[in-house]
Formats: sequence, C-alpha cells, structure tokens
Amino acid sequence: MAANLTKVEAALDAWVTDTPVPSLGWGAPAGLVQAMRYAVLDGGKRLRPLLALAAFDAVAPEAAATADVAALRAACAVELIHAYSLVHDDMPCMDNDVLRRGKPTVHVKFGEAGALLAGDALQALAFELLTPDDGSVPLAVQGRLCAVLARAAGSTGMAGGQAIDLASVGRPLEEPALRHMHQLKTGALLQASVMLGAVCGQASESVQRALSDYGCAIGLAFQVVDDVLDVTADTAALGKTAGKDADNHKPTYVSLLGLAASQRLAKNLLAQAHGALAASGLENTAALAGLANLVVQRGH
Ligand code: IPE
Ligand code: IPE
Ligand code: MG
Ligand code: MG
Ligand code: MG
Repeated sequence: MAANLTKVEAALDAWVTDTPVPSLGWGAPAGLVQAMRYAVLDGGKRLRPLLALAAFDAVAPEAAATADVAALRAACAVELIHAYSLVHDDMPCMDNDVLRRGKPTVHVKFGEAGALLAGDALQALAFELLTPDDGSVPLAVQGRLCAVLARAAGSTGMAGGQAIDLASVGRPLEEPALRHMHQLKTGALLQASVMLGAVCGQASESVQRALSDYGCAIGLAFQVVDDVLDVTADTAALGKTAGKDADNHKPTYVSLLGLAASQRLAKNLLAQAHGALAASGLENTAALAGLANLVVQRGH
C-alpha cells in the first residue's frame, strides 16, 4: 500500500496542474489551479484511491503496464470527486466548516466563489483523467469507468445523499432512511472506488458481485465510524472540527443508536466485508482486508 500511496500522491501532483494543454495552447487560470491543488494535495488518507488500486491488484496481479495506467487514473479520479465533495460540503451553505485536513477550508482561503469553482473543476477533471486520448485506455473501459463514477457521484449517489443530509437537518430519521442517506452520501463513492479497480482489472461478474458487497459494507461502515469520531475524537486528531454533527443538528448513527451500538454495527459491517472477500474466491485480498480494518478500527 505504501508504494501505491506514493504513486497516487505523485500522480495527483502531476495531474492537478496549470500546464498548458498542447491541443489547446493554454492551461487553467493560476488562481483556480491554486485552489484545486490546495483542496487535493497535502492531506487526506487517500482511502478511495488505495481501495481502487487494492481491488485492481487483487483482480489482476499480473496486469500489463497499460492496465496499471488505467487503474492509477481511476484511483486519482475518484479522489478528485471526493476532494470536490469535501470542498462543497464545508461551504457555509452546507456544513459551514472552517477546518479540513488540518488546514483552513477552501472557501476560507479562496472565497466562496473560488471554492465553488474549484469543486466544479475538480469534478470535470476527474472525468478527463478517465478519458485519455492517447490510446492508453481502451474506449470500452473508459466508458465503463465514467459510468461507474458518474452514477456514484450524482443525484442517485453522493450528491443525492448530500441533498438528503441537508433536508434532514433537525429531523430524526428512522434507521432505514439514515442508512439510505449514508449509503448515498459516502458509501456510493467508496463502493465505486472498489468497482473502478475491478473494471480496470476486467474482473469476472461473480468477482464484481463479491467486491460490490465488500464495497457496500465498508462504505456504510465508513460513515458510521465518521459519525462516531465526530463525537469521540478531538479536532486535532480529526483535522476537522469535532462535534459539528450535534451543532448542526444532523441525524447520525450516534444520535439514533448511541455510541456503543454504532461501534457494534461498524464491527458487524467489517465482518460482512471480510465475508465478501472470502466469497470472492480471490487470493490476493490482504490489502483490501487491511483497508477494511483501517476503516473500522480508526473508530476505536
Ligand atoms: C471524510 O472522508 C468525508 C466523509 C465522507 C465522511 P475522509 O475521512 O476519507 O477524508 P480524507 O480524504 O481522509 O480527508
Ligand atoms: C460528508 O459527510 C460526505 C461528503 C462529503 C459527500 P460529512 O459532512 O459527515 O463529512 P465531514 O464529517 O464533514 O468530513
Ligand atoms: Mg456533510
Ligand atoms: Mg461535513
Ligand atoms: Mg462527518
């Protein structure tokens, strides 16, 4: 995983840039790129790219170098969508947060319009990364990757979940509705991370089904643990303001079930994730298993 992390950091640094595009003759405005780089670089656990690459490595351990390129592009694309979602999530019209990844949030540093545009541009850049025109990624693979990421990011995925989140402020939700919200706002992109790696590795349908179950379990577990940490961890450890969910009157697993039951649920979901890996029949699942443990154990 350390090697994959190094590759991801280097690729994000190289791809979020104002270098002129040869076919255009110009690059992005410096101020916009500065905000984009601020949002993406120097921070973040990179869980989503690591999941994409771990899934790819598990499915296609002997892959050709060209497939490696596709997987790295997909890994960075999902991180760009995630980074954009954080920029917008922190804005005053949403969660109104001033700290993210241990730094002032993008709108604090670059203004609200700057943050809005940085998020917009990061979202578009994600799809540019998935669609290189140099022949390095087969068109059919490009199409599938775009479909998976678009579905997870859009109105029936992350953006839809965020809409439910905002509409639920001050309203306690029943467990099925809360689960639905969490699966959309956070689970969808984590599950998609795994599936993007599986697509790059050309996984069989049965392997894709098992990895989809794994991604679904850790996706929900991740947001349950995020809700727990909002209550149990401090601002310095989180790199974002602790206690914001209660301040913002958000329905969370902790407000619904309490701390102990939320932690138990996360553990059950972890067991489900391990079960799905066992059912996949894949041999090389150590990294995926380790990432699942990381998701849940950071909450203890
Ligand atoms: C935080 O995600 C936002 C949620 C979806 C709960 P992460 O905890 O993965 O944030 P970074 O990328 O490490 O900053
Ligand atoms: C964020 O959920 C989910 C997305 C950014 C899509 P939260 O609002 O709980 O995330 P944090 O706690 O601010 O990181
Ligand atoms: Mg939020
Ligand atoms: Mg938030
Ligand atoms: Mg949170």
